[in-house]
Amino acid sequence: MTQLPDTSSSLLSALDRGESLPARWYTDPSITEREITHVLRKSWNYIGPLSQLSAIGDYVTGYAGGVPVVVLRNESGLAGFVNVCRHRRHEVMKGRGNAKTLQCGYHAWTYDLAGGLKRVPRSASEPNFDLADFPLLPIRAEALGPFVFVNLDAEAPTARSCYGPVLDLIAESGVVLDTLVPYSREEWRSNANWKTMLENYLECYHCAVAHPGFNAAIDVRPDVYTLETHGYFSSQSGPVRPAALEGKARTRLYDVSGTVRQSQYHFLWPNVTININPGFPNLSIDVWTPDGPNATKGISEQFFGPGVSDEFAKSLVAFNKQVAAEDDALTDSVQRGLLGGIPDKGRFLTNSEHLVIHFQKMIVEAVGTY
Ligand SMILES: [Fe+2]
Repeated sequence: MTQLPDTSSSLLSALDRGESLPARWYTDPSITEREITHVLRKSWNYIGPLSQLSAIGDYVTGYAGGVPVVVLRNESGLAGFVNVCRHRRHEVMKGRGNAKTLQCGYHAWTYDLAGGLKRVPRSASEPNFDLADFPLLPIRAEALGPFVFVNLDAEAPTARSCYGPVLDLIAESGVVLDTLVPYSREEWRSNANWKTMLENYLECYHCAVAHPGFNAAIDVRPDVYTLETHGYFSSQSGPVRPAALEGKARTRLYDVSGTVRQSQYHFLWPNVTININPGFPNLSIDVWTPDGPNATKGISEQFFGPGVSDEFAKSLVAFNKQVAAEDDALTDSVQRGLLGGIPDKGRFLTNSEHLVIHFQKMIVEAVGTY
């Protein structure tokens, strides 16, 4: 039997009824390819902290929809480029650091900080060769608070117009963004579709069931835990539990008694999340990137406010890792369910899972009929 393609309108009206996307949207490599083209290459991709781009020549490398990119500071401000040499397409820069020029490690083609090609060994004897024809390709780079993003799409709305109000919400938590200090950066990989993982992030219906430590620290009851969509971003927030503040939690917890009295979990379309937990000023930012349909590769950066003790930092990082490990077990299991393909669709609870529905609708609108 040939399966007819799902139309966008039929999928969107199914989502309004609480019916999820079909299973193959999570397992079919051609859908992942469309997501890379139509979602990740048309939206803002987090690259790194602005504090690591403060001096001229500072650079940070990363990827946007699978394209190697570099952001640097030059005389004019922040500049973004495709981090691929115009010669043989080797990646030009690696990691993060400070450089006077951008020199490719393959044949030493050398670009200045404005992306202009300045030196090519043996090119003087090459006929019909003009350095000016091969600059690094520019892309958009934009700072939003202390975070730097890039976008491969010249037509996309600015990062500030997509996510600007997130900065105001974070300020309400007691975290002062401009004072945050980078603490750690980790790369990770997980065995579930990137959407499976983000859809788990976008609801806390599972928190009381699957996260005993988290549930002891944060009040996840539906009357106090809020979930709000705001177009290009969505936000969840829950207050710290009084029992945890008084040291009476039933589970052993990190010290939640600092100035931050609420948790905040922000999702920035399509694949960035920002987390604040109760306690001393803290923030982490994650990027969730498809690695084929059945795996996700990610980056997590942790920041703390000035003067936060190393003991608190270590205990909060351990808390976040525990929650992430519990979530990985859940999403790995969901992915096995999706790979089986039966049942084809799930059923949401629209009051507790409307952020997930909003995300799936944005995916359908971006990917189109398929
Ligand atoms: Fe979770």
